[in-house]
Amino acid sequence: MLYQILNFKVHGDHRGQLVALEKGEDFPFDIKRVYYIWGSEPHITRGNHAHKHLEQVIVCTSGSCDFMLDDGRGHKEKIHLDNPAQGLYIKSNIWRQFTNFSRDCVVMVLASEHYKEEDYIRNYDDFLKAVKGERL
Ligand code: TYD
Repeated sequence: MLYQILNFKVHGDHRGQLVALEKGEDFPFDIKRVYYIWGSEPHITRGNHAHKHLEQVIVCTSGSCDFMLDDGRGHKEKIHLDNPAQGLYIKSNIWRQFTNFSRDCVVMVLASEHYKEEDYIRNYDDFLKAVKGERL
């Protein structure tokens, strides 16, 4: 499975909308880190890596962008994110790129681990080797 879409509970009333993300049944892991990205030009490609262990839920809190996911076994998919009430849940060993940022795009990432460069695979050929179980 490349990804799952999580549909968050929205508390909405005449004042607007609110989503709360808390450890528990509604969320797939304990959140250890949150980061967010904005100000990327539409043609820029970010990501270009996979993670050995890290899991992430990605929320486009404003605007829109596209995620390209690849499991290294021939399964690739493009997902358009434009809804702050949805999360894109990506487990480990998935190559990801994101692009096509709208001017108002803000992407918030909730991560299962602290930042560790050793958890990144930043070279696509190394990723394919890792998927095949070959030593890097
Ligand atoms: P980078 O991995 O290039 O971002 P993206 O995957 O969106 O293309 O990260 C950009 C910089 O930010 C890089 O110097 C590493 C740093 N960084 C942290 O210090 N902590 C973090 O949690 C993240 C995600 C990145």
